[in-house]
Amino acid sequence: MIREHIAPGTTTGVLDDICHRFIVDELGCIPAPLNYRNSPGVPPFPRSICTSVNHVVCHGIPSARKVLRNGDILNIDITVIKDGYHGDTSKMFFVGKPAVLAQRLVRVTQECLYRGIGAIRPGATLGDIGHAIQTHAQAHNFSVVREFCGHGIGKRFHDEPQVLHYGHRGAGMVIEEGMTFTVEPMINAGRRDIRMLPDRWTVVTKDHKLSAQWEHTLLVTGDGTEILTRRAEEADLS
Ligand code: MF3
Ligand code: CO
Ligand code: CO
Repeated sequence: MIREHIAPGTTTGVLDDICHRFIVDELGCIPAPLNYRNSPGVPPFPRSICTSVNHVVCHGIPSARKVLRNGDILNIDITVIKDGYHGDTSKMFFVGKPAVLAQRLVRVTQECLYRGIGAIRPGATLGDIGHAIQTHAQAHNFSVVREFCGHGIGKRFHDEPQVLHYGHRGAGMVIEEGMTFTVEPMINAGRRDIRMLPDRWTVVTKDHKLSAQWEHTLLVTGDGTEILTRRAEEADLS
């Protein structure tokens, strides 16, 4: 529903306001990021969604001062709590018409997500997911951010296990039916190195080149996986 509100001149603060009202009033859910704190000493996240523009890797804080420009790429990351359970998903949006490289980064990152999802079945390992993502990203000369990962999810927002977006086939925890976790690769156009801004939330690429991210919440089924956060627009993807 937020797509129609994304245009040059809009601020990420406005997008947060609209999403907050929709999550609370229409969905009857709680926006999980609002006042969320993960590590002691870090101030709680002040808004309801994350908006990460261009070289922002993740956890961008919506702001009335952040105006979108033609050619920007934008990740919106939404986590809601419904009946005590979390659902966590993010996708990329184009503001106007981004450059070819930006479009390619966004497409390849979505492909990375789907390759990772494609590796999920009982008996496979978390390393299989990371390997599938890393291989595809590097085949396109992009790099994988290592400091942030997917996560177990359910009654808790960020639970065990950590789901790395790089790794080796057959390594790591064995995947079992009934597990719920996210896959959310952050892929950089340049080097993988990141920096944290003084607000203690916003993560940016050190080289200020573009970064993209896509995320879904997955349930491991008897023979594969169900994408719990799948959108209608993704009906044809696999
Ligand atoms: N939704 C993010 C994730 O994918 C986490 C955001 S935490 C916040 O795990 F506090 F920054 F909102
Ligand atoms: Co997540
Ligand atoms: Co998320």
